[in-house]
Amino acid sequence: MKQQRSARPRGRGLAMFALGLLGGRLLSLFDADGGSDAPAYHSRRIVHNANEAIIAADETSCIVLANPAAAAMFGVTARQMQGRSLADFIQAPGLDDAAPTDYFHADGRAGRRATDYAGTGLRANGETFAIEGSIVDSLQDGRTVYTIVLRDVSERQRVQRKLARSHDQLRQLSSALQTIREEERTHIARELHDDLGQLLASLRMDLTLLREVCGAAPSSARLIDGMDGNLLTAITSLRRIATNLRPRALDEGGLFFALQGLREDFVQRHGIACELLAEEAELRLDDQASTAIFRIVQEALTNIARHAQAKLVTLTLYRVNGELLITIRDDGRGIREEDMEKAESLGLVGMRERVWGLKGEITISADEPPGTRIDIVVPLRGHTV
Ligand SMILES: Nc1ncnc2c1ncn2[C@@H]1O[C@H](COP(=O)(O)OP(=O)(O)O)[C@@H](O)[C@H]1O
Ligand SMILES: [Mg+2]
Repeated sequence: MKQQRSARPRGRGLAMFALGLLGGRLLSLFDADGGSDAPAYHSRRIVHNANEAIIAADETSCIVLANPAAAAMFGVTARQMQGRSLADFIQAPGLDDAAPTDYFHADGRAGRRATDYAGTGLRANGETFAIEGSIVDSLQDGRTVYTIVLRDVSERQRVQRKLARSHDQLRQLSSALQTIREEERTHIARELHDDLGQLLASLRMDLTLLREVCGAAPSSARLIDGMDGNLLTAITSLRRIATNLRPRALDEGGLFFALQGLREDFVQRHGIACELLAEEAELRLDDQASTAIFRIVQEALTNIARHAQAKLVTLTLYRVNGELLITIRDDGRGIREEDMEKAESLGLVGMRERVWGLKGEITISADEPPGTRIDIVVPLRGHTV
């Protein structure tokens, strides 16, 4: 591990760094005059009373000084630490003649200072725990002394793991709820279509028979025509409601036809031009992928109608090397950074969740003005039919 004498730490890191330097200075003064002069006494008191665990060790990793905070962290007294090897308190690197810096490894976190390292602490009761340390080396009378400022990060890591687990569970819950919702929609749409739809169709047939039975009486003919007109309106509304719940094309034709229906409906309803550039054969996907992609495009079109003030929308879907590339572009006002942070807006969040559910990636940007562009890449392995 490379030693850093010239690192420029900030904030809390700066305090740790200063403590390290102070520890190093203390050590030199300690050695020089046995602690009799005032600055040495002052430094010693600061290190002694610091909340941070501070250890000084020589080149052979023998501890020459430890403050009470360090002793408490390892479950011993400061006196018990002095003269012992660092290996008794920090998991040894498995090297002969390990220097103090060998006890730590870069923890790989982005943005970390080069002086910060991770290691594993060993408590007196045999327990191991995660630590992070900053090391400062200083030269004293021709030998290097290392001052190590340590933090016990086990609690922080425990909380991070717990948070990650609960985040994971929330994602699974949201995905399960989406699936249940989709199943319910499919079920209701089918019932509407099959039961109510059939009933209305047979009523229309009965009306035709009734017209024959009643003969040509003008009053009854008008009544029957009126009833027929109402029945037709009911059938049309029912189809619209059922299709809004879940388009039959998704289950019967496939994603391409479902998207075509969505496009036609969008153009008719909002008067905004919309192109669909896709090949039917490339969009033969399983139910999970078809449904997710359909709902993503549906949400994007709803957003365009509500927010974009666009004149033209282009939907592009094509396959490349086992991945489906989806681009949704509009020429409207363009999405802003702050739009994507709105806490109360769940449309974009839902889109992201659906993409992640397919292990894909999504970027939403306004970087090609005018308008908004959504790019999605979905791996198709296991989703083609
Ligand atoms: N195509 C778009 N063009 C311009 N702004 C958009 C577009 N899509 C989304 N937005 C902005 O992003 C915000 C968040 O969208 P969304 O999460 O779907 O929530 P909602 O539609 O309920 O407001 C919208 O309120 C809108 O300001
Ligand atoms: Mg929305």
